[in-house]
Amino acid sequence: MAFFLLLSALFALFTYGSVLAISDRFSDASRSITSKPFKLQESWAQYSPYFPVEEYSDPPKRCRVIQANIIQRHGARYPTSGASAMIVTALSKLMSATNYTDPSLQFLKSYTYSLGTDDLVPFGARESQQAGKLHFSRYSSLVNHRQLPFVRASGSERVILSATNWTAGFSIASSHVYNPKLSVILSEDLNDTLDDSMCPNAGSSSSQTSEWLLTYGPPIADRLNKQAPGANVTSTDVYSLLSLCPFESVSFDTPSPFCNLFSNAEFRQFEYSGDLDKYYNTGYGQPLGPVQGVGYINELLARLTGKPVRDNTQTNRTLDASPITFPLNRTIYADFSHDNQMIAIYTAMGLFRQAAAPDPTLPNPRRNWLASHLVPFSARMVTEKVLCGRKEYVRVFVNDALQPLEFCGAGKDGLCELGAFVKSQAYARNNGNGDFNKCFD
Ligand SMILES: *[C@@H]1O[C@H](CO)[C@@H](O)[C@H](O)[C@H]1NC(C)=O
Ligand SMILES: *[C@@H]1O[C@H](CO)[C@@H](O)[C@H](O)[C@H]1NC(C)=O
Ligand SMILES: *[C@@H]1O[C@H](CO)[C@@H](O)[C@H](O)[C@H]1NC(C)=O
Ligand SMILES: *[C@@H]1O[C@H](CO)[C@@H](O)[C@H](O)[C@H]1NC(C)=O
Ligand SMILES: *[C@@H]1O[C@H](CO)[C@@H](O)[C@H](O)[C@H]1NC(C)=O
Ligand SMILES: *[C@@H]1O[C@H](CO)[C@@H](O)[C@H](O)[C@H]1NC(C)=O
Repeated sequence: MAFFLLLSALFALFTYGSVLAISDRFSDASRSITSKPFKLQESWAQYSPYFPVEEYSDPPKRCRVIQANIIQRHGARYPTSGASAMIVTALSKLMSATNYTDPSLQFLKSYTYSLGTDDLVPFGARESQQAGKLHFSRYSSLVNHRQLPFVRASGSERVILSATNWTAGFSIASSHVYNPKLSVILSEDLNDTLDDSMCPNAGSSSSQTSEWLLTYGPPIADRLNKQAPGANVTSTDVYSLLSLCPFESVSFDTPSPFCNLFSNAEFRQFEYSGDLDKYYNTGYGQPLGPVQGVGYINELLARLTGKPVRDNTQTNRTLDASPITFPLNRTIYADFSHDNQMIAIYTAMGLFRQAAAPDPTLPNPRRNWLASHLVPFSARMVTEKVLCGRKEYVRVFVNDALQPLEFCGAGKDGLCELGAFVKSQAYARNNGNGDFNKCFD
């Protein structure tokens, strides 16, 4: 309840506060990139708070869900230590100005930066707890005293705390009747299917994001340097200052004054930076991106088919061979992970294929590769096993949006026969067709 109140207060403030102020000043820029009206907090790319992209739909009447495989990103966090250092640099420049010629900057006269680094913020913990409540209510028919969710987490603190906040939410929603536990923590220094740290030769997205930054950043830097004479901010600083809008808003549960420094159009440019980053870092634009999702897909196939894991990539074979650490007889599996790893998993599976690679200088206004829809804080992919009559099927949801699964012949109901789905996952079943070896040699 408290979560709902805080969340609706946050959204009400955004809707009636800064968003209106921004769109009043820049009303010509308030056209939407999708058919939906512009919402500031949905333009923050991977830093958007969780929101369902569509409304979840039950399977057709003749069918019922018999297994749910959840993989979820940690909830909202502070900036990473690297991002934090860049934010501090940008702020010190902006605050070194002798005066401000624009009222939106006046708050800086008495401003102190106070965000932590890396950790889950209280709002992020609630996002995860809320997910646990939702998943209990959605899948309560799969739960009984012998059947509790089997939960794993990648070994960074914010991911572990997201997992335990999810189990707490699950427990609360069941009036403490069902109390799942976090069973396995996978070290991020070892074999880990829930993190993208095992492919040393994989490249990064920096050339594409830099190209885009040099496209949209300079005019914003020029404006800020007029509004804050002597600040000398660069395009790189502009990115850091834009990022303070989401980071401060999720950290303090209230819209940050940095949100008022930029227009809706500029936040869309910020969003595109995240879209490019995800596409070229571990997505289709990174030759060694999708292979990093193969280990999880092979674990998923094992759970769906009830057969031992067959994988020669990132799995820990010792853990996955044991019914204690990798049982195959559960109805709900919940794994906790990171955004870049989830992108690798989506692309290993074949979701969100793009007709053309995103252009680093020219966003396609009709693209569906939107980081805010793919990996917002607390993002989740759920692969359901569904029984219709005597036949088994698979459906996949990403942030409650039913995926088309055209690659295994799904129709409008998104259902693929289990066998066809398994067959479609040849890239994973073949250990990435040799790509995993390229991670090392
Ligand atoms: C702001 O500072 C600049 C540079 O120090 C100065 O030229 C300008 O007159 C000042 N403007 C106001 C409004 O004080
Ligand atoms: C799953 O298998 C393990 C042994 O491998 C057994 O102890 C447990 O009771 C089984 N759980 C269910 C729900 O069947
Ligand atoms: C939820 O996450 C917060 C961190 O924001 C942590 O302090 C708290 O202990 C977690 N709660 C549970 C039940 O894990
Ligand atoms: C596999 O998991 C076991 C049990 O946690 C651990 O002792 C071992 O170091 C792991 N090995 C690798 C390579 O990840
Ligand atoms: C800003 O840049 C100009 C030109 O590069 C330089 O002359 C000036 O000293 C810089 N100001 C500050 C405060 O760094
Ligand atoms: C960890 O992964 C590497 C690379 O696939 C593999 O050679 C090794 O056997 C794995 N270790 C364990 C314990 O599964």
